[in-house]
Amino acid sequence: MDKLVIRGARPLHGHIRISGSKNAALPILLAAPLVDGVIEYDNVPRLRDIFTTLKLINILGLETTFEQNRVTVHPPASPGALNHEAPYDLVKTMRASVLCLGPLLARLGRARVALPGGCAIGARPVNLHLTALEKMGATFDLEAGYIEGRCDRLRGAHIIFDFPTVGGTENLLMAASLADGRTVLENAAREPEIADLAEFLNAMGARISGHGTSVITIDGVASLHGGRHTIMSDRIEAGTYMVAAAITGGELLLEGCPYRELDAVVFKLGEMGVVFEKTPDGVRVARNGDLVNVDVATQPYPGFPTDMQAQIMALMCLARGAGSIKETIFENRYMHVQELVRLGARIKVSGQNAFVHGVKRLVGAPVMASDLRASASLVLAGLAAEGTTEVQRVYHLDRGYETMEVKLSRVGADIVRARE
Ligand code: UD1
Repeated sequence: MDKLVIRGARPLHGHIRISGSKNAALPILLAAPLVDGVIEYDNVPRLRDIFTTLKLINILGLETTFEQNRVTVHPPASPGALNHEAPYDLVKTMRASVLCLGPLLARLGRARVALPGGCAIGARPVNLHLTALEKMGATFDLEAGYIEGRCDRLRGAHIIFDFPTVGGTENLLMAASLADGRTVLENAAREPEIADLAEFLNAMGARISGHGTSVITIDGVASLHGGRHTIMSDRIEAGTYMVAAAITGGELLLEGCPYRELDAVVFKLGEMGVVFEKTPDGVRVARNGDLVNVDVATQPYPGFPTDMQAQIMALMCLARGAGSIKETIFENRYMHVQELVRLGARIKVSGQNAFVHGVKRLVGAPVMASDLRASASLVLAGLAAEGTTEVQRVYHLDRGYETMEVKLSRVGADIVRARE
C-alpha cells in the first residue's frame, strides 16, 4: 500500500490544470449500454474509479479503449450480446456501479446488480432509485445480495423524489431516455454533473429538458446513437486546490477551473479571507491576510457540497476564532476529525455538528485516510503543518484525484509517494 509523505509549511505558487470530473464521468460512461453506436469521451480523468467503471462496462459486453484522457466505447454486435449483471466484486469497490441499473433495465428489460453495502461515510441506501424505477414499471427482488430488476419496456411516469438524490436522479434520467412516453422528475438533484449527463444523452439523441433545475422532463426515444462528449471539469478537485492555495498562504492559478459551479465554495472561502480573480485561463486563488472562521452547512447543490466538507474543515483548523460545520447529507462523514486532531487541530463533534476552534499551527504526524475526501483534507492539513505528515492508505485518494502528488510538487509542495 502506498502512502504520501509531506514536509509542510511551504506556500504553493504556480498553476494547476483541473482534470475532468470523476462524478460526471462515472454516470456518463455507465450510460454507454443505452447507446447504439460508437461513443468518444474526452477529458476523462485517469483514476481508479474510472478504471473500475471501464471494467464494469467490459463485463456488460462493451469494448473500451483508454488513451491519454480519451475513452472510446464500442457496442456489441447486437444488443442481445449485452450482459445484465454487475457482480459484487466490482460493486463493493465502487458504489456508483449501481448506476448501471437504469440503463440495463431500459435497454434489456432486466438487470442483476449487486446491492452496494455500507461504506465509510454511511449506509447510503438505494431505495429512492428503486421506488422511482418501480413507478416506471420495473419490479425488484433482492436475492443473494443482488437486486434483480425486470420490466417490459419502461413507461414514462411522474416521480417526486423524497430527497434530491444525485445517483437516483442520474439512474432515472438514463432509464427514462429510452422509456415509452414522458417522465417528469420533481425534486430532482441539480448538481452540474447531472446537467452534464443530460447534455451527453441529448447529444446521443435523447430529449431531456430542465436539467440543472429541480424539475426535469424526459421524452423517451426509441434508440440513442453514438457521438462524442467532453466531460466537464472537476469542481471538487478545483475546490480542493483552492483550499491548498489558502492553507499554505500561496497563490495558485487553477486552469480550466469551473467557477459558477463552485459558487457556494467560493462564497464561504471568501468569507474566510480567500480572494479569487477570474482570468481568461481559469481562476487565481490567494489568501488575504489571516483567515477567519465561519459556519458551514452542507446542502444539496447549489448549497455547500458535502464533498468539500473535509477540505474546508482542514482550513478552518487554522483560521482565527471558532467555526462550525453541520453535515446534513451523510450521517458518518467525520472520520477525518480524529486524524486532524492528531496534527494538533481542536475539533469537537456532536451528532451532525462539528465545532472547530482555530489554532496557530499544525504539527506533522502519521495519519490514516478513511475515504476519498477525508484523504484530501489530510493532505491539505499536511501541506500546512510543520514537520512531516505521512498520509497512509492513499489508495482512497487515487480513486478521485488525478496525480495529486505530481500536481502539488509542480507548485512547490514537498510531497512524495512511498510504500507503507
Ligand atoms: C453522489 C456523489 C458523492 C456526493 C453525493 C452528495 C457520485 C458518484 N457520488 O453520491 O460524491 O457526496 O452525491 O452530493 O456522484 N439516499 C437514500 N436513498 C437513496 C439514495 C440516497 O437514503 O436511494 C441518501 C444517502 O444515503 C445520502 C443522501 O441520500 O445520505 C445523498 O445521497 P445521493 O445524493 O444519492 O448521493 P450519491 O449519488 O450516493
